[in-house]
Amino acid sequence: MGVKYDRLFWGAVTLGAGALLYGALFETDKLKVERRSLRLRGWPHRLDGYKVAVLADAHIRDHRSVMLAQRAVEHALMEEPDIVVIPGDTLAYWKKDVLEFVEAAYSGLKMMHGRVIAVPGNHDYFAGDAEWLVPAFENLGIRMLQNEVWKHDGVNWVGVDSEIAGRADPYGAIMKADPVDPIVIVWHEPDMVDTLPWGPELMISGHSHGGQFISPWGWAPATSRLGKKYVSGFYGHAPVPLYVSRGIGTTGPPARLFCPAEVSVLTLHPA
Ligand SMILES: [Fe+2]
Repeated sequence: MGVKYDRLFWGAVTLGAGALLYGALFETDKLKVERRSLRLRGWPHRLDGYKVAVLADAHIRDHRSVMLAQRAVEHALMEEPDIVVIPGDTLAYWKKDVLEFVEAAYSGLKMMHGRVIAVPGNHDYFAGDAEWLVPAFENLGIRMLQNEVWKHDGVNWVGVDSEIAGRADPYGAIMKADPVDPIVIVWHEPDMVDTLPWGPELMISGHSHGGQFISPWGWAPATSRLGKKYVSGFYGHAPVPLYVSRGIGTTGPPARLFCPAEVSVLTLHPA
């Protein structure tokens, strides 16, 4: 019996290690542009066809992650979006020279001439403070929203700070919105949508990485805290219609499996 279970154990370990190696070598740098048309209740006809590019979870930490983020920016710009949204976890963690990596990764976003918004994710607080990103973001034309509203193109862009970092104040942020115009909430942790009031037209999140490792039949064994219920794609029946991007980078093992990195391009229409 012992020998049999030993063989099963080592078989599973070998299979897992092989899958990680395959994912690291062949899938981590694959990038897919996900183009979605979303029909939203309350979205105004004057903004029919409004295009949002989403660059989530770059987890910038080294040259490989910088190169992947640069390719993601190139793909996003080719779609000619009206706005680019960065829903958190720009960094993997704070370390020396990481701001130079961010500048290198996102310099292409200057082409958007200030039409780029970001919120902090939990990783943007690891070993540091998301506030430290603000000057670098300003140089790149990226506006960091921490429980704040930016009114742009007749839309209230409501950026909520990270729940896991203990900084979120969604109601305080929403209260600052102009109720006449549509509200798009950008909040890193997707499962927090269940705490929102009915009314905003859309929420955009990342954090889950789509599970990062997916079985061939679609099971995600390693979901993240506050990224378990809403893992990937569009959830039209959530309390606020929600889009969750699989994001660009990786966390934990630098590998993905059956879960390619994503540049999301959302074209918004009235329902
Ligand atoms: Fe995260």
